[in-house]
Amino acid sequence: MRAEQYRTAAMALDTSTPLLAGRIGVVTGAAAGIGRAVALALARFGADVALCDRDGDNLAIVAKEIDGTGRRSLSAVLDVRDGDAVGEFCDRVGGEFGRVDVLVNNAGGGFHAAFMDVNEKGQDALVRENFTSVTRFIRGVVPLMSASGGSIINITSIEAHRAAPGYAIYAAMKAAVDNLTKSLALELGSKNIRVNCVAPDVIPTPGVGDLGDPRTPLPVRGHPDDVAGAVVFLASDLSRFVTGTTLHVDGGNFAAGGWRRDGESFSP
Ligand SMILES: NC(=O)c1ccc[n+]([C@@H]2O[C@H](COP(=O)([O-])OP(=O)(O)OC[C@H]3O[C@@H](n4cnc5c(N)ncnc54)[C@H](O)[C@@H]3O)[C@@H](O)[C@H]2O)c1
Repeated sequence: MRAEQYRTAAMALDTSTPLLAGRIGVVTGAAAGIGRAVALALARFGADVALCDRDGDNLAIVAKEIDGTGRRSLSAVLDVRDGDAVGEFCDRVGGEFGRVDVLVNNAGGGFHAAFMDVNEKGQDALVRENFTSVTRFIRGVVPLMSASGGSIINITSIEAHRAAPGYAIYAAMKAAVDNLTKSLALELGSKNIRVNCVAPDVIPTPGVGDLGDPRTPLPVRGHPDDVAGAVVFLASDLSRFVTGTTLHVDGGNFAAGGWRRDGESFSP
């Protein structure tokens, strides 16, 4: 290991500069929900941010918000299922920003349908959106990471770790990303590139709606900024010795394993 490339734990705890000062991040699906919160948080903690989404109107608003923090933004309207568009975007980021330190694979989603009602076309769309896009972005961005390393954060789901009737393919792809994360943590570790997952649950966003009271073990509602906080930790040197793992941001739902808060007690 070349020690000069490795930031020390003491440097990670230095509070004199913002956690991500001078870093360059890429966030997919950044126009709304968790992706928007992540992109803004990276900028607030000092990073310049390249962002993409298929929703051009809202993406432009987020880019403007990032510019308002004093950090640079670069945005592209694209569908992460389009391999050529992803490749062109990565090339553009490399050309304009010179390198990438943090990649957040956030774009994803699905639709409710019984497995037997999902045809080949629907399944292919789910696979490309939730799995293939992740592999494409990693292949496009890793060559842009410098000798001092980088951090890849894949947004998975509690559904990667349990059954999901009506969302079988989506959940299987999130589980695939969870497993991919572990393999890549080993394959890329010698380059000091860390690869981790953040697994949200019951975070109110345009995609999942309001959710009411999800009766999580913690008696508070989740917020996209809760996921952004976990991403900032994994993007920064505070987590410089953390790779191949999953941080659950779910009010305790993963630990609860199906138990729901019922006032002061729990019911299955
Ligand atoms: N909200 C939750 O409770 C929750 C729970 C588990 C997992 N997740 C995961 O978190 C991530 C973000 O979820 P969210 O709730 O913020 O969703 P959301 O639907 O509110 O926002 C997703 C954003 O990604 C964009 N996007 C989606 N598919 C895209 C594509 N193919 N190409 C380009 N842009 C695309 C959308 O336009 C939107 O701006 C997803 O990967 C989702 O699976 C969320």
